[in-house]
Amino acid sequence: MTKERRQVVRFLFVKLDPAWRRLPADQQVAHKEEFGKTIKSFHAKLLLRTYSLVGARGDCDLLLWHAAENLETLQRLQTAVFSTSLGAFFSVAYSYLGMTRKSIYQFPDDPKHDEQLTVQPADNKYLFVYPFVKSRPWYAMPKERRQTAMDEHVRIGRKYPTIRLNTIYSYGLDDQEHVVAFEGDDPGEFLDLVMELRETEASSYTLRDTPTFTCLQMSLYEALDTLGGASARALLDLSPAQSNGFTPVADVAEIPPGGSKRVYLGSDAIAIFNVGGSFYACSDRCTHGRASLSEGAVNTTTCILTCPWHGGTFDLKTGQPTGGPPLAPVKTYQVKVDGVRLLVG
Ligand code: FES
Repeated sequence: MTKERRQVVRFLFVKLDPAWRRLPADQQVAHKEEFGKTIKSFHAKLLLRTYSLVGARGDCDLLLWHAAENLETLQRLQTAVFSTSLGAFFSVAYSYLGMTRKSIYQFPDDPKHDEQLTVQPADNKYLFVYPFVKSRPWYAMPKERRQTAMDEHVRIGRKYPTIRLNTIYSYGLDDQEHVVAFEGDDPGEFLDLVMELRETEASSYTLRDTPTFTCLQMSLYEALDTLGGASARALLDLSPAQSNGFTPVADVAEIPPGGSKRVYLGSDAIAIFNVGGSFYACSDRCTHGRASLSEGAVNTTTCILTCPWHGGTFDLKTGQPTGGPPLAPVKTYQVKVDGVRLLVG
C-alpha cells in the first residue's frame, strides 16, 4: 500500500458567551489582540482559514478551518486558543475531524476531483460545510454501479464551474464518513446545485447530511469584529508583516540543498525550495489542478519546477508557466535568510 502524504483536517465551530459583550471596551480589544496573536503564532505550522457565521446561523459564531501534518498540531492550537482570555468565553458548538485522501472513484475528465491530498482553499467569499453519511446499501452496491452514480454527480457539478468541492474523509476518526466543504461566491448558485443533486441516484443513498453551515470568509480580525464588542480593525496592521513584511516560516536546516517544504503563511500554503543553497518560494498550489508543488522536482541549472501531477512547469524565479498544461502563473514570494531562520514575504 502506498504511503500518501495526507493532512489532518478539522472544522471547529465555536459559540461566544454573550457575557463577553458586556466587558469594558479596552478589555474586548485586548482580548481580540491576544487571540489574534495566538492564532498567528501557529501560522507556519498549519493552514488556517477563519469564517464568520454571525447572521447565518444561531448556534455558532466562528469557524476555524485548519489543516496540518498531524493531529498533535491541531490539539496544540485548540489548547492555545482556548487558553486566551477570549477563548475562555468560547464553547465548541460543533467539531468535525477528518483527513485528506485519494478518491476511490475515477474522474478522468475533471481535474477538480483529482487527488486532494492537501487542503488548498480558494479565495471565495463563502464556504458551505456539512458532515455526510451514506447508507449501508450504498456500500453493498458493486463499485462499477457506484462509479456510474458518481459520474452523474460530476456531470451536474460541471454545470456549476464556480463552485469548488473539498472532500475530507472521516471513516473511523469521527462520527461522519465525510465532511464536504464547497467554496463559492454566490449562495444562490450553491442552492441550485444542491437542489439538482437531490434528484440523483447517489443522493437516495444519503443517510445524513446535516447540520449545514453557511460561512463567510474574512480575515481573523474582521471575523472577530462580527462578534460585536469594541472593534479590532486597528489591529489589522498586525498582519504577517511583523518584520518588514517578512514572516519566519521554517529553519534553514529543515530544507537542505535539493529539498523542499510546504509551510503556511496565514491562510496560504507556500512551497519553499532550496536550489543549490538559494531559496525560492511559490504558492503550493499548481494553477492547473490541485497538485502540491512542494512535491514537485526542480532543475537546479534552470530553476524550472515540474509539477508532480501532469508535468506542468514553472520558472521558480518569476512564477511564469514554461510548459505543460498550466496557463496561469503561480504566485511567487521573496525568501530571506535571517540567521538560522527562513522568512517569507
Ligand atoms: S496539476 Fe496539472 S500540471 Fe500541475
